[in-house]
This record gives sequence, structure tokens and C-alpha cells, in this order.
Amino acid sequence: MKILTVIGARPQFVKASMVSNALRKNNNEIIIHTGQHYDDNMSKVFFEELDIPKPDYNLNICSGNHGYQTGNMLIKIESVLQKEKPDCVLVYGDTNSTLAGALASSKMLIPLIHIEAGLRSYNMTMPEEQNRILTDHISNILFAPTKTAVSNLSKEGIVKNVYNVGDVMYDSILHFNKIAEKKTNIMNILNLNKEEYILATIHRAENTNDFNRLKNIVEALNESEEKIILPLHPRTQKYISEYGLSFEKNVQTIQSVGYLEMVMLEKNCKKIVTDSGGVQKEAFFLDKPCITLREETEWIETVENGWNILVGADKLKIKDAILQFKCNEPKNGYFGFGDAVKKIVDIIG
Ligand code: UD1
Ligand code: UDP
Repeated sequence: MKILTVIGARPQFVKASMVSNALRKNNNEIIIHTGQHYDDNMSKVFFEELDIPKPDYNLNICSGNHGYQTGNMLIKIESVLQKEKPDCVLVYGDTNSTLAGALASSKMLIPLIHIEAGLRSYNMTMPEEQNRILTDHISNILFAPTKTAVSNLSKEGIVKNVYNVGDVMYDSILHFNKIAEKKTNIMNILNLNKEEYILATIHRAENTNDFNRLKNIVEALNESEEKIILPLHPRTQKYISEYGLSFEKNVQTIQSVGYLEMVMLEKNCKKIVTDSGGVQKEAFFLDKPCITLREETEWIETVENGWNILVGADKLKIKDAILQFKCNEPKNGYFGFGDAVKKIVDIIG
């Protein structure tokens, strides 16, 4: 079968890393990289470290407003589909690259497969919520990572060809965990000891593009008196300097890191503070209490199980959670058993 995969943003590289290599054993896969993420440390490093096959097409769309970005991707993906005539199109998650790939495929009546289907925050102001709902409703095969995702789809009348296969990010972390130990030296480079620091990431538009929210988060980290390691997404870096915000000595900012380095930083920290979807799950996989800088989450299982707390951009709540939030609850296998990739490949054929 000829499968055309559309990826473009950092979390999609992590998700595709295992799936692409497995699919290629019995299929012909063509990869389109939309170019949504383009800096070396947002793109190239993932292809190199995670052994992701080189994209056949790079659309070089780069940054821009949602309409500009999604529209340009749509035009260029359509012309690749016309040329390649794949049997199906595969998209991941909820970015603008996901929606563009989904629309291009659906309009040309090419069967569409969505990995990480059924996630909902029930907050339609998030671009990701719009992208994932639209994509799910035009998908022909939907791979859901959790029971909750299956139930969310069912509430919207989507019940056909929905498979709960578990989460491919769980497969990725199981696979790359040991490789990260051998191949990275980030703990030495940053002179860090195990469990003596908190790892933080911030990148959601709702936090970065709002002065008051970002100021509260920055102040909470500054005032926490904990050693904090903060790999900065370029969007966050840009807004921090535009708003004239700055960090105290306890907060060490670094450039965004590759996945293997990130896994090492996650494994060795004492807690995680984040607004990332992927990082919330990775905290759960690695037994780290997670403090989430959002009002709601798609990964509600992590909150229900006690390993994740939602604090929004409330300075006092963030500071309090950094100081006090702990969890030792036994964990349930909400995200599958590390065989999501195998299940997906078996179903696709
Ligand atoms: C996108 C996704 C988000 C996902 C995130 C993963 C959408 C709507 N959002 O958000 O769901 O969680 O990726 O990281 O698709 N930039 C650079 N270099 C890069 C990439 C981005 O400098 O390589 C800067 C640009 O100023 C750009 C900004 O970051 O305007 C935002 O990038 P964009 O891809 O639009 O959104 P993300 O915040 O990365
Ligand atoms: N990640 C990374 N380097 C970083 C920050 C994140 O490799 O500096 C990884 C992280 O481990 C996870 C994925 O990127 O696998 C999550 O992506 P991101 O937070 O950008 O997006 P989201 O998951 O919120 O869509």
C-alpha cells in the first residue's frame, strides 16, 4: 500500500518516529514535512536522533497566521497528492499541519487515517481543539489513544473504524529511554544532579500571547526559589523579550532540546511544570508529578489518577504546587501497553 504521511511540528516527529519505520516494513511510505517547525532544534535534531526517514517533500511553509499557514499547506499538499496518488493519507495530533493534511486528503476522497484521534479539551478557543474536531470528523480510520478518546468520539457520533490502540508516545518513550541514557550527556553539560531541579516548558498560545498570563508564570517560577530548567520554545522566547520579562538566577533557560535530551531531563527531575500535551503524558509515564499551566486538559486520566494538577496561570497556585504537589498513587495503564505502533500497523495492513 502507498501511504502518504503529513507531519510538520515537533510532537509529530516524536509520534511518527516509531510508526514510520514500522509501516515501511510492508508498505511504501512517502513523507511530507510541511515545514511548520523549521529551526534545527525544532526539526532536524528529531530526524537525526530518532532515525525518522528523510521527508520526500519539504513544503517550507514556516510561520504565519493560522489561515496563511494552513491555506498554504493545503495548496501544496494537494499538488503532492495529485502527483503521488497515495492509497491513504496519515496525520497525527492537532496542529495546523494535521488539519491541512486532513482537508487535502478528504477533498480528494483519499482515505484519511488519524493517529491520536478523539482528544478533547472542550475549549473551542484553542486552535488545536478546532483542528482535532475537524480532522476527526473527516477521518476514515481513527486511532484513539485512550478509552476517554473513544468515548469523546462516540458522543459526536463517530463510532465506525475507531480503534483504541494506546498511545504511540508511550511506545516512543519505552523505546528511546535506554538510548537516551547512552547517547546524551545533557546532565553533565548542564551540571545537574538527579532530582535537584524542576523541569519546565511553556509554549501554548493561550499562555505566551497573553501578557498577564505569561508574566504570572514567569514570576511564579522566579519566586519559587527552586532550581528550574526551562528549555524555551522559540515562540516563548520571542514573547518574553517582546514583553520585557526576565528570569531570576534560579531559572536556567536553555534552547529547545532534542527528544533524547528532553527524556533525560524529564527522567531526572523532581517535578515537571508544563502546558504541553506530550510532556504531561511523559511526566505520567516517568512517574513525575506534573503541574499543568492550563485550566483544562485532554489527558484527564493523569489528573484523575493524582499525578497531574491543573493550575492555569495563577501565580499562587503555581508556586504552591511547585512547593507541595506530590503523588505516589499506583498508576493505571490508561495509555496502553507499549504496543500501539504494532496494533496500528496490523490494522492498516
Ligand atoms: C504548534 C501547534 C501546537 C503544538 C506545537 C508543538 C498549531 C496551531 N499549534 O504550536 O498545537 O503544541 O506546535 O510545539 O499548529 N517558531 C520558530 N521556529 C520554528 C517554529 C516556530 O521560531 O522552528 C516560532 C515562530 O515565531 C512562530 C511561533 O514559534 O510564529 C509559533 O510556531 P507555530 O508552529 O505557529 O505554533 P507553535 O506554538 O509551535
Ligand atoms: N520536547 C523536546 N524538546 C523540548 C520540548 C519538548 O523534545 O525542548 C518533546 C517532548 O518531550 C514531547 C514533545 O516534544 O515528546 C512535545 O511537544 P510540544 O510540547 O512542543 O507539543 P504538544 O505535545 O503540546 O503538542
